[in-house]
Amino acid sequence: MNGAPIITVDGPVSSGKGTVAREVAARLGWRLLDSGALYRLLGLYAQRRGLSTDDEAGLAELARDLPVVFEQTDGEPRILLDGEDVTRAIRREEVGELASRVAVIEPVRRALLARQQAFAGPPGLVADGRDMGTVVFPDAPLKIFLTASAEERARRRYKQLKEKGFGANLAALVEDIRARDDRDMNRDIAPLEAADGALVVDSTSMTVDEVVNRILDEAARRDIA
Ligand code: C5P
Repeated sequence: MNGAPIITVDGPVSSGKGTVAREVAARLGWRLLDSGALYRLLGLYAQRRGLSTDDEAGLAELARDLPVVFEQTDGEPRILLDGEDVTRAIRREEVGELASRVAVIEPVRRALLARQQAFAGPPGLVADGRDMGTVVFPDAPLKIFLTASAEERARRRYKQLKEKGFGANLAALVEDIRARDDRDMNRDIAPLEAADGALVVDSTSMTVDEVVNRILDEAARRDIA
C-alpha cells in the first residue's frame, strides 16, 4: 500500500454507504472501491459457470481470475464481466444473496484481498464494504461505520428497487435484510463490525447530504482531505 489517504465506509446492507461513498469520492476527486461489487460479480460468475456455492476451491480460483473491468462511460461507472455489461444485473437481490454466500469462504476473501488493496493510490481512495476498516485497510486514517434501523434500510431498498423497475415486497425485504445482517455479522471470517477507532454514524434520520458532510468535516478536521 502507498501513502495516499484512505477513507473506509463500512456498514450493513442498504445503510446508504454505496451512495455516501460515491458522493464523498466525487466531492474529494478521489478513487472509489465498491468492494461489494466484487463479491456480487463472483456470485454471478459462479452461477453462470454452474459452480455451487459449496465449491470453495473452485470459487477461490474464479475469484483470483475474475475477468472484470471497471470503467467510466460518460461519467457513469460501468462494470464489464468477461466483456459483458453487468452493471445492472449485479444489483439484483438474488445476486446480493449469492454474494453474501460466497463471501463467507475464507479462500475467496483471501483471493480478493490484494485486488481490493490495489485500488489505493493518489489522490486518495474511498473504500465501501463490510471489512474495509477491519481487514482490507486497517491503517486508514478515517474509518466510518454507517448504520440505520432495519426498517429504514428496507424502506430505502424498496424505493431503490422500484425506481430501477424491479419488483419488491417491503415485508420480505425487512426479513431479507435481517437474514443478511445476521449472516454478515455472525460469520467467522471478517464479520461485519465497527473497526477500532471507527466513527459510528447512524443515518436513520439523516439525509445523504448530511452524512456526506459529516464525513467530509471529519476528514478536514483530521487533516486528511
Ligand atoms: O454491499 P453489497 O450489498 O453490494 O455486498 C453484497 C454482499 O457481499 C454483502 O451482503 C456481503 O455479504 C458481501 N461483502 C463482504 N465484504 C465486503 C463487501 C461485501 O462480505 N467488503
